[in-house]
Parts: sequence; C-alpha cells; structure tokens
Amino acid sequence: MRRVNRKLLFLLVSTFILCTISLHIKWTNKLSFFAGPQNSVTYKHRRAMVKSFCENNQLNNSFFVLQKKVAAQLYVEHSHKFIYCEVPKVGCSNWKRIILLLNDSLGRSINELKHYEVHTSSLLIKLSSYPPAIQTQLLANYTKVMFTRDPLERVVSAYRDKFLHKDDIYYSRTIANQIKRRVRENINSTENITFEEFTRYIVLQAPQYTDTHWKPMYHLCDPCNIHYDIIGKFETLKEDADFVLKVIAAPQKLSFPNKKHHSNDSQTNHQITRQYLETLPPILFRQLKKRYSIDFSMFEYSYYTDDDDDDDDDG
Ligand SMILES: *[C@@H]1O[C@H](CO)[C@@H](O)[C@H](O)[C@H]1NC(C)=O
Ligand SMILES: *[C@@H]1O[C@H](CO)[C@@H](O)[C@H](O)[C@H]1NC(C)=O
Ligand SMILES: *[C@@H]1O[C@H](CO)[C@@H](O)[C@H](O)[C@H]1NC(C)=O
Ligand SMILES: *[C@@H]1O[C@H](CO)[C@@H](O)[C@H](O)[C@H]1NC(C)=O
Ligand SMILES: *[C@@H]1O[C@H](CO)[C@@H](O)[C@H](O)[C@H]1NC(C)=O
Repeated sequence: MRRVNRKLLFLLVSTFILCTISLHIKWTNKLSFFAGPQNSVTYKHRRAMVKSFCENNQLNNSFFVLQKKVAAQLYVEHSHKFIYCEVPKVGCSNWKRIILLLNDSLGRSINELKHYEVHTSSLLIKLSSYPPAIQTQLLANYTKVMFTRDPLERVVSAYRDKFLHKDDIYYSRTIANQIKRRVRENINSTENITFEEFTRYIVLQAPQYTDTHWKPMYHLCDPCNIHYDIIGKFETLKEDADFVLKVIAAPQKLSFPNKKHHSNDSQTNHQITRQYLETLPPILFRQLKKRYSIDFSMFEYSYYTDDDDDDDDDG
C-alpha cells in the first residue's frame, strides 16, 4: 500500500516538474519574441501602476458606462483588432497614419498621407459611431492602446504648436481671443497670448471639459475603466510603437513614421519645457502641476520642481 502511494507521489511530482519546465520554455519563447529594451515586463508594470492608482483612489466605476466624449477619442481598426485612444500632442497624427495604412485598400505609402488628410479622413472609424452594446464587445475583443507624455511637456508642446503658428486659425484667433477675454488685463492689447496667459486659462477651466489638446490624459482615455493592454510613452515612442505593431501583427514593412507637423520647429523636450515653466510665477506653476496631478501619478512622471517646492508635495 505504502509503496503504491510513494510511486504515485513520485509520478505526480515528476509530471508537475516536467510540465513546469515545458511551460517555462514556452513562456520564455513568447518573451523572446518581444525581446528588446522594452520587454513585456515594462508594460505589465505600467498597467499595474494604473490599476493600483485607480483602486487606491477609487476612480474605477462599478456602473461603468463609456462616456460619449471618451468613445470619440477611440479609433477602431478591424483588420488587426486594434483600438487606439487619441491623445493630442503624443504622436497621434502618426498613429492615425498607421491606422489608415493597416487597412490599406489604397496601397499608399506613409509619406503620401498629408497632415490635413490624416485628421479629416472618413476612413478613420471612431468607437462612438457604434451602438453601445457593440462598443462594449469591441473593447472586450480588441487590443487597446494609449500613449502618454510628460504632462507639462505636453502643455508646452500644445502652446508652441497652436499659438506660435498662424496656420490653425481656430486656435491662433478664436481660442486665443477667448483666452484673452478670460485672463488678459488690458483687453486692448493685441499682443500674442503668452505662455503665462495660456496657463492661467488652463487652471481656470474644468479639466474634464477643456480642449482635447490640453485636457488631462486621464480624462481623455478613462484608463481606470478602459483596461488598456499597452500603455506606451512618448519618451520611448519608437520602441513602444514597434511593440504595439508586433502585438497586433502589423505587416513587417510598416514601421512607425518619424514625421512632425511643423517640421522646422525643434521638438518640445525637457529643456524647452523648463524654459517655459520658468516664466511662471511659483503659485501658478503649482496650480498647473495640481491640474495634471492624476496624470503625473498614474503614468509615473516626476514633477518639475521650483526652488521652494519639494518633489511631490502636490501629489
Ligand atoms: C474597483 O476597485 C475595487 C478595489 O480594488 C474593487 O474591489 C472593485 O471590484 C473595482 N471595480 C471595478 C468595476 O473594477
Ligand atoms: C477598411 O476600410 C473600409 C472603409 O472604411 C471599410 O469599409 C472596410 O470594412 C475596412 N476593412 C477592414 C478589414 O476593416
Ligand atoms: C467579440 O467576441 C465574441 C466572442 O468571441 C463574439 O461572439 C463577438 O461577435 C465579438 N464581437 C465583436 C463586435 O467583434
Ligand atoms: C504673434 O505670433 C505670430 C506667429 O508666430 C508672429 O508672426 C507675430 O509676429 C506675433 N505678433 C506679435 C505682436 O508678437
Ligand atoms: C481700450 O480701448 C477703448 C476704445 O479705444 C478705450 O475706451 C479704453 O479706455 C481702452 N482700455 C484700456 C484698458 O486701455
């Protein structure tokens, strides 16, 4: 009797060990497929950070109904079961180019797609164009992706792109005038709006209703309720985009483009951002950081500091 038991135990243990080894081999094979500086551990970590932040701050919603304005940020690409949340100033024009080329009935190359065409194409399908029941199914079935960027670098990028150029009249006139009416003391002045005025305007507005170019990423994409499979970062755009393209099994010849709208401008970086932030009075600077505090924490960006301000006192 005992002998039989022992044999059985031995059999069980060896089967277990063998299974573990073969599973491990399978898993490492899968991982090596994604090998590179940004392996799947990075993405798992980002997702875990978002999840724990949402739970700790009770930002998830048990009666979740996808908001219309969030559904309008999400683009659907059926042939690769891909859903992309548009965050302006975080490489979104290039993602739209990719989406157009993924469903390539026209056989065009990436350079043939013009900027205005990308933003007005009727071939781009928004999730909001489907009835709610289908929206839920698509969110459950497809690979969902969003990209984030340092919150204040995004604000500076929006300012430079929208208010230092005259080609986009909606911003350089209509919105600029709106900002002047709200924050400018001398209403007769015809000066361009300054970064400080832009910032004053941002902190006066309710973050969930403000313009998408400076709306907090948390409000744009609702990551507490839409469980994104991949959270990419602008700071590692190329690697993260390549990872996404691999996961959705995009054609190998398709690679993420490196195109800028105002190609003569230098890309807004940490140093340029700092130069703009230094023009702000300390109180306004703190108010601005507070505006984006969820984005800072949830997506793990570090706060810019001024002299009398500790790293995370607004956290
Ligand atoms: C929200 O988070 C809480 C705390 O972890 C969890 O118990 C609850 O199930 C979550 N709700 C949803 C809808 O995910
Ligand atoms: C490609 O785009 C066209 C036009 O929007 C659409 O009718 C078609 O269903 C798309 N194909 C796939 C596979 O998504
Ligand atoms: C989603 O997946 C389910 C189960 O595989 C399938 O029945 C359903 O038709 C899919 N829905 C959509 C919109 O793709
Ligand atoms: C306002 O900005 C535009 C575009 O950069 C520039 O051409 C113009 O000279 C500026 N006007 C003033 C008064 O600074
Ligand atoms: C603005 O212009 C109007 C009309 O020219 C003038 O009456 C008013 O005093 C000016 N206001 C300021 C603050 O300069």
